[in-house]
Amino acid sequence: MDRAEQHDVTDGRTLVAGVDSSTQSTKIVVCDAETGQVVRAARAPHPDGTEVHPDRWWEAFEQACGDGVLDGVAAIAVGGQQHGMVALDEDDTVVRDALLWNDTRSAGAARDLTSELGGVSAWVDAVGLVPVASFTVTKLRWLAEHEPDLAERVARVVLPHDWLTGRILQQGNGFERWSTDRGDASGTGYWSAADGDYRLDLLDRAFGRTLEVPEVLSPAQAAGHTAEGLLVAAGTGDNMGAALGLTLHPGDVVVSLGTSGTVFTPHGSAIRDETGAIAGFADATGHHLPLMCTLNAARVLTAAASMLGVDLAELDRLALQAVPGAGGLTLLPYLDGERTPDLPEATGTLSGLTRTNATPENLARAAVEGMLCNLVAGVDALRDHDVEVGRILLIGGAAASRAVRQIAQGLFRAPVVVPAPAEYVGVGAARQAAWALSGEADPPTWALAIDSEYAVQPSDEQAHADVVARYQDLVSRTHGV
Ligand code: XUL
Repeated sequence: MDRAEQHDVTDGRTLVAGVDSSTQSTKIVVCDAETGQVVRAARAPHPDGTEVHPDRWWEAFEQACGDGVLDGVAAIAVGGQQHGMVALDEDDTVVRDALLWNDTRSAGAARDLTSELGGVSAWVDAVGLVPVASFTVTKLRWLAEHEPDLAERVARVVLPHDWLTGRILQQGNGFERWSTDRGDASGTGYWSAADGDYRLDLLDRAFGRTLEVPEVLSPAQAAGHTAEGLLVAAGTGDNMGAALGLTLHPGDVVVSLGTSGTVFTPHGSAIRDETGAIAGFADATGHHLPLMCTLNAARVLTAAASMLGVDLAELDRLALQAVPGAGGLTLLPYLDGERTPDLPEATGTLSGLTRTNATPENLARAAVEGMLCNLVAGVDALRDHDVEVGRILLIGGAAASRAVRQIAQGLFRAPVVVPAPAEYVGVGAARQAAWALSGEADPPTWALAIDSEYAVQPSDEQAHADVVARYQDLVSRTHGV
């Protein structure tokens, strides 16, 4: 029975699948194409680290697919961690482990590339972003400089979601060519969201010679079909996937607290930010997704909990027992270095410690406040570009914390809405798959379920403004930015 017949017999519903191939795991959700209701889900872990062989993603995908998760599915799309460099040789063999978005070894290459092109404005003009170690273009420079023998073998470069999409098609005998989408292409540093085109001169400049790059598909275009008739949609970067899964409206600003912390919002035009805080990415619907990203988010809380010898539930309870400002304790949460602000070599700082404020409650609160203050800068950078911040949608693992939710509404100076817990990257990928399957001009309308809402408490405003001011003052005194 081919896929088309099979999906007709799945309770009369058409099923679509979305894959979130993230830093830590592969998650698959299978949704009803009409309503978005999740009918099945599965996951499998990835190895830890900032470089990984792409075969590990494939193994995790296959493991998650076990037990018939994809039975009766008519279309699939992959949302993947952005920016990772998957270097392939002439035969499409992976040349080295992929360097991931959170690998900071190319920080020097980022600085060199910035000055070689004539500084930050030249990069913002060219591709809407200022090079930092996360972006693929800097990883290519690092490879050319540090591993010339391997670099010699590279024929083409793709991103994690491109590779997994191609692999699904190769497996199903439907592979024709490597492809990507606007969203993920816009995070490479050699594709311009404003112009909708590659800047291969920048790739050549970084790598020293030309490489093949994937074809950029339009949002509802299929990457291909397997021999069994499974439609494989274009896929996208994970943040673009989450934006699609959340069905965002103007004024909705997402703060995602996963392995990375991100702040993003749908926008009609490309934003040009010379401070480098906001990257001018494209989204998965044909528009734009200005985005700020930090390397430190949910794992700041796990680190604080392990320092205190407690679990996350206890950390939450402790943080809510301290008052705003944690008795004068401030944590700069740069535990993995930092990307925004651009401080790849930084470490964390705990400041203001006295005998009086040295309590587990204050330390827990300082961890939550520090993690969030790092992202307040992103929301404020959007405000600086006259982007409407109507409400904050808080998603990602750390959004489950009551302390995070309550402290966020004060620090972000906007109402906070917590969508019902769901794998929004996977749901967004599934929505893209449903869109490609439908052949319609717009994605299907899927409702967003809200878990809880927090209004701004005017009584807290001054206390929270003081927390943000003290945090920013410490950043500039410690790091000069
Ligand atoms: C965004 C970014 C991260 C990764 C995480 O620019 O680098 O959010 O996409 O998966």
